[in-house]
Amino acid sequence: MLKSRRILLVIGGGIAAYKSLGLIRRLRECGAHVRCILTAAAQHFVTPLAAGALCGERAFTDLFDAKSEFDVGHVRLARDPDLVVVAPATADLIARMAGGHADDLAAAALLATDKPILIAPAMNPQMWAAKATQRNLAQLKADGVHVVGPNAGEMAERGEAGIGRMAEPLEIVAAVEALLGRAGPLSGKRVLVTSGPTCEPIDAVRYIANRSSGKQGHAIAAAAAAAGADVVLVSGPVSLPDPPAVSVVRVETAREMLAAVEKALPVDVAVFAAAVADWRPERQSAGKIKKRQHGQPPTLALVENPDILSTIAHRKSGRPRLVIGFAAETDHVLANAKAKLAAKSCDWILANDVSPGTGIMGGDTNTITLVTTAGIEPWPPQSKENVARTVVERIAAAMADTNS
Ligand code: CTP
Repeated sequence: MLKSRRILLVIGGGIAAYKSLGLIRRLRECGAHVRCILTAAAQHFVTPLAAGALCGERAFTDLFDAKSEFDVGHVRLARDPDLVVVAPATADLIARMAGGHADDLAAAALLATDKPILIAPAMNPQMWAAKATQRNLAQLKADGVHVVGPNAGEMAERGEAGIGRMAEPLEIVAAVEALLGRAGPLSGKRVLVTSGPTCEPIDAVRYIANRSSGKQGHAIAAAAAAAGADVVLVSGPVSLPDPPAVSVVRVETAREMLAAVEKALPVDVAVFAAAVADWRPERQSAGKIKKRQHGQPPTLALVENPDILSTIAHRKSGRPRLVIGFAAETDHVLANAKAKLAAKSCDWILANDVSPGTGIMGGDTNTITLVTTAGIEPWPPQSKENVARTVVERIAAAMADTNS
């Protein structure tokens, strides 16, 4: 999908720079032409020779290098590509971008470019959480810069963990495809995805929720954007970064989710991956319910939440052409999935067994059975990203069929 697309990769000075060499390879495998700038700090981690060898042309390092100014010049370096990727985007590089600096080749090219910029931040979790970094990041987002990651996990420093790991090369490639892949199989299509749990408040501090992480829904939104769709992701509270090139609406409760979904219509395709809480407390206390307030543990009266999938699939007007639901089951998976397909009036159900021990809810892999009126199709266990790609391929095929 990236055939002949031109990417300028700015490598910042962080330990994650070694992953950027892998990123160059992945981008080139997708057919992209990659040009590289290394900051002075980056050269402590990877050499211009290694980056240049992988790009197939020399890497650029110096703003005042007469040879590169004669060869291309920093303005052409900035203008030639279709997209500029900064990976790793260190706290310092992010700060300099936000401040509009131009005192080295990387900063000057980033300031001079008129092309979209995608940054893959990577830094220690404390530096990531620092007010200054978040302020700079908010500024960059307001300036239209796209962000992929960072992810949570172990840091290079011993014993350090948290949010700050650079997105993996394949995630960055997916983000690049999302930004450049407007000619993909879903281009011109509008796709809505719900994701994550909903939280239903009991009082000022307590709520009812579930173990959904949002990984599957977010991966589907990312894959649909990578296929060129215009994607709206309505998400309950999750601790995942926003997928690139997706417009994200954050909600807390089922009723807020339904309102956000209705506001996002009309869409061509709707995928309901959220684990919506079926019930909410009938009454919500504005303050915190005290332990001994009623002399005994309080009784929670619950009322049913709206069924978002069913509401949208049953719409007389403005029903999306393809409505896809999930079925999270612990028993009689297929029978229940078939019953949901009929009762909720959706076109496909992606059924999964979420029993404890399967690791599906909250985990990184999924085992899906696709249930449609045409039949049942078990898919092998695979990563949630691969499930997402398969779902999107099937959506694209279905859309192509209904177009013809
Ligand atoms: N769903 C929804 N709104 C709800 C409940 C569920 O949109 N209030 C959607 C989910 O996003 C999913 C599908 O309906 O696509 C099935 O959800 P699931 O939790 O498997 O089933 P429920 O309808 O909640 O039924 P049950 O809890 O009895 O299995």
